[in-house]
Amino acid sequence: MTFTRAHYEETADVIRSKTDLRPKVALVLGSGLSGLADSVTDAVSIPYEELPHWPTATVHGHAGRLVIGRIEDQPVLVMQGRAHFYEGYSMAEITLPVRVFHVFGIETLILTNAAGGINQKFKPGDLMLITDHIGLVEMTGINPLLGPNDDSIGPRFPDMTHPYDSELCALAHAIAADLNYSLHEGTYLHLSGPAFETPAEIRFFHMMGADAVGMSTVPSVMVARHAGMRVLGISSITNVHTLSPSAETETNHEEVLEIGRMIVPRLTALLRGILRQI
Ligand code: HPA
Repeated sequence: MTFTRAHYEETADVIRSKTDLRPKVALVLGSGLSGLADSVTDAVSIPYEELPHWPTATVHGHAGRLVIGRIEDQPVLVMQGRAHFYEGYSMAEITLPVRVFHVFGIETLILTNAAGGINQKFKPGDLMLITDHIGLVEMTGINPLLGPNDDSIGPRFPDMTHPYDSELCALAHAIAADLNYSLHEGTYLHLSGPAFETPAEIRFFHMMGADAVGMSTVPSVMVARHAGMRVLGISSITNVHTLSPSAETETNHEEVLEIGRMIVPRLTALLRGILRQI
């Protein structure tokens, strides 16, 4: 299925018909992080099933609705749960929400995810600002920007030198410092999943310069940057991989969700601060 601007407009019109708010900021909540949507006031909530063309998230830990309201007085669109490539959706489907945001008028996209740490300085429960990424899936030719280009949305050959906005990163650091904690910075590597990584793959990604691995975010960032949005990406480090060939610790989804939930209060405070000042 390829989508065109008409599809995106159709979905955006449904959102507009449910609320008078016209947010400029959208927030995507990843695995175990859905609790953040509870801080939205004056909320209107639209189940993904009611949004035309919108992929419905099927994974445990991902609610599936779009919440429109305010956080710290800032009007926001909040995606509570996202569809992933490993669920069998196409790249066009998983990135449709970002295109809808673009035609809706969103200018700033804040993405959160759960990620596995590769940088050995990281601990489970830490937060990492994504300052760059390695699109391993996208590099194999599974890229959301493949196919006909709509020049009214963005250029055929978009620049990716600055995928993550440095001013938003600086703001995030300042807010975290006010809250008495610090944020790591690092490179996020995108894998399709759904299997977690082997020890040899982790050592390979470490050599490549990746600080964290995960199964989302990069396709959305590519589509958002193509459309000229400012992007902030924050990874919740839910587990840290060892670099030892005889790794003893296994990775599981329950741990990812549990640590994700543990991080929610800190991430909520951070996002509130950012939304207050953005
Ligand atoms: N690998 C991939 N995705 C993840 C991980 C991981 O270790 N932790 C949370 N999401």
